[in-house]
Amino acid sequence: MCGIVAAVAQRNVQNILLEGLRRLEYRGYDSAGMAVCDKHGALKRQRAVGKVQALAERLASESLAGNSGIAHTRWATHGRPSEPNAHPHQSRERLAVVHNGIIENHEPLREELSAQGYVFESETDTEVIAHLLERESRTAGDLLTAFKQVVSGLDGAYALGVMTVDEPEVVVGARKGSPLVVGVGIDEAFLASDPLALLQVTDRFIYLLEGDVVRLSSGGRIEIFDASGAAVERPIQTFEHGDGAASKGDYRHYMLKEIHEQPAVIAAALEGRLGDRSVLVESFGPDAEALFRAVRNIHIVACGTSYHAGMVARYWLERYTGVPVQVEVASEYRYRRVVVPEGTLFVTLSQSGETADTMAALRFAMQQGNYLGSLGICNVPGSSLVREASLNLMTQAGPEIGVASTKAFTTQLTALMLFTLALGRVRGMPDDEQAELVEELRRLPGLCSQVLGLDADIEALSTAFAEKHHALFLGRGAHFPIAQEGALKLKEISYIHAEAYPAGELKHGPLALVDSEMPVISVAPNDDLLDKLKSNLQEVRARGGELYVFADENVGLTPAEGISVLHLPHIHEALAPILYTLPLQLLSYHVAVLKGTDVDQPRNLAKSVTVE
Ligand code: G6P
Repeated sequence: MCGIVAAVAQRNVQNILLEGLRRLEYRGYDSAGMAVCDKHGALKRQRAVGKVQALAERLASESLAGNSGIAHTRWATHGRPSEPNAHPHQSRERLAVVHNGIIENHEPLREELSAQGYVFESETDTEVIAHLLERESRTAGDLLTAFKQVVSGLDGAYALGVMTVDEPEVVVGARKGSPLVVGVGIDEAFLASDPLALLQVTDRFIYLLEGDVVRLSSGGRIEIFDASGAAVERPIQTFEHGDGAASKGDYRHYMLKEIHEQPAVIAAALEGRLGDRSVLVESFGPDAEALFRAVRNIHIVACGTSYHAGMVARYWLERYTGVPVQVEVASEYRYRRVVVPEGTLFVTLSQSGETADTMAALRFAMQQGNYLGSLGICNVPGSSLVREASLNLMTQAGPEIGVASTKAFTTQLTALMLFTLALGRVRGMPDDEQAELVEELRRLPGLCSQVLGLDADIEALSTAFAEKHHALFLGRGAHFPIAQEGALKLKEISYIHAEAYPAGELKHGPLALVDSEMPVISVAPNDDLLDKLKSNLQEVRARGGELYVFADENVGLTPAEGISVLHLPHIHEALAPILYTLPLQLLSYHVAVLKGTDVDQPRNLAKSVTVE
């Protein structure tokens, strides 16, 4: 949730750390801070409430100078956003700590340290680490020994970066349950929560494993120790996406850029995975075919937007493979007694591959010991999910910066359709049906481009929503989760209360809410539920509700009083959920722009939630 960046360099690190924080801001943005060891060996710190820009303004008038430093952008868990609660936290001006995650045993540690005379200046769980380190370093002899001692006594999840005035050219770090990578520079070394933060200084990274401790020192020296304390070598990997991925280009917001990237990234998600008339099962890995043959049941577990992708996949998998599917949000799944029928495959979806609830669910599932195996569908190479799932399918969306997920969702859906067809293939799905869907997948990027061409029409529609406080989204079948995703997007970035219902459920309650102040948005592809959906829309109209319908060009729905209709190109009904997502994304985007909200960094949210 929070973002960490640290450096031991041959130059002043202030601007490297500041740029890193800007790139990590998607992880949290209620306060930010930085500490460096200056040339006199003193620890200097600046912190500010608000976005990274507030810290940048403070640094512009009172700059920091030093060749090593640590920095942090925060998403509050313990203690409200305030300067005393902002990281880095210090102990007796000797040590500074930045932390992402939650220290679960911070209360007894705080009591113990207070009794020993340590004075707490913040409400955070993190500050105990600074004081523990100060205490241990008095006897340990060096920072690394003290640090290893301290982390062995911490319960919970953390990625940490630490420095001390006693060793001004050293930064130590650790990861357990929260992401941390080492950036390998030329005679310089860095740490960050995400490689994106460091692409301005290096494209070479070491992905730390769970329990790793790392020591960076002058001259670019990097020493890594595994959970048992043994010195280890970890491979250096070159980051594949160019640095341009982290810039907005000519777009006003990352979200708009990412919406418009969808034709290209969906094409990338399909690349190398389609044969002439079927999906290449080998693209899931050499063991996939044998595993897929054994699948009798599927459990899909994810959070947020990724969960909605899983909900769509249930319709596809049950229809085309005949395998029963259960879909659940990760934070619920792991706290109940899960019944795992024989032959069940565990499927997790995550844009980041670091969501704490999703990772905990994957680990919980694998500890059960009775799943066939796990398939991780993920966008971030090298992430925890990719390392821990038995099979992986990368969604190839490229870095997604806007907090509201867009291209990550449609590429997840694309990947899930590939999975459906791969599983269908090994389970005897008719060849013609496979070939038809493969052909339609090839057309999908072009159809998406056509729908994005409706941008101006959708922007015009959005004016009707700017003054509204509520909205209702309707869909049937696999479009019910698309309606849910549409409602989530509107909530996230425009702060309009929105709910989604399966259209047939309207009459069982929500119809009571419908009046002229309640816009009702519906997706109406040309599928076998169309006539039923049309009746549901009549029910809304009869109560004075204003309807906004995204409809197949062939369904015969035309605009009328109180009914706005935008036509989408015809698409195979199975792939319609992917295409119909796009106008809903654009609608939310334009409503948010009209309302003047912070589109890319909506209030109270974070892109990657690495706490439970
Ligand atoms: C956060 C983000 C959502 C995202 C969810 C799951 O809540 O704000 O946009 O859908 O996490 O993230 P994941 O990276 O696991 O897909």
